Amino acid sequence: MPTTMVASNSVGMTRRRVLQSAALSALWLEAAERWAFAAEPTAPPPISFADVVHRRAMIRSYKNDPVPDDKLQRLFEYATRAPSGGNLQPWEFIAVKSPDGRAKLAEATGKQTSVVTAPVLIVTCADIQRAGKSGARGSFFSLVDTAFASLLILLGAVEQGLGACFVGSYDPEAVAKQLGLPDYIRPVGLITLGFPAERPQKPKTAKLPLSKVVHQEKWSR
Ligand SMILES: Cc1cc2nc3c(=O)[nH]c(=O)nc-3n(C[C@H](O)[C@H](O)[C@H](O)COP(=O)(O)O)c2cc1C
Repeated sequence: MPTTMVASNSVGMTRRRVLQSAALSALWLEAAERWAFAAEPTAPPPISFADVVHRRAMIRSYKNDPVPDDKLQRLFEYATRAPSGGNLQPWEFIAVKSPDGRAKLAEATGKQTSVVTAPVLIVTCADIQRAGKSGARGSFFSLVDTAFASLLILLGAVEQGLGACFVGSYDPEAVAKQLGLPDYIRPVGLITLGFPAERPQKPKTAKLPLSKVVHQEKWSR
């Protein structure tokens, strides 16, 4: 078979795959939006890992509807599957649902909309004492591990049809005081969670192109 025919066949196949995948994504998007904005949400439609990753975006405004406990439980299970230096698992998660607790945490973030409107806040914390068993790099590891766990919560939220936002701008002392944290438990992020009252930003948040951030063998510019 002439090479041009092979090339044009493979272009045709790639194009078909792209179109098929775009059609599937559009179908899923439609089902997910119908589901997320329905008066009484039921089970979320199944979603591929690629769609979870591509649909993840910070959601900063939520409905009042409570987040079902089984969904929260699922997110904690995902979080604790995160990799961890020396498998010390230095993460701790504090779920805050009470209006008073949420209001005080909102205060500590300068009243950011996502924190003010979310029915649930998960404060991800790092236990630097537990991580200290890794040696001098312990406190660095504890931050990395807890950030990985936080990301699994953000990705799990997409799968569960929830909106989430990672909030890192807060007064750590105010948060530690409100949550009664001992000095070896350091807050890492406030993850706001709830059923979205807004659609993810369109167009999506711009990301740097791969050509700018991926290097081969050595860093280069
Ligand atoms: C370490 C860190 C701190 C962040 N702090 C905040 C914050 O305080 N408030 C907020 O609304 N978003 C916060 N974000 C979310 C970023 O603004 C967001 O990830 C970025 O704009 C890219 O958008 P995307 O996540 O929707 O792709 C934070 C994200 C990270 C990783």
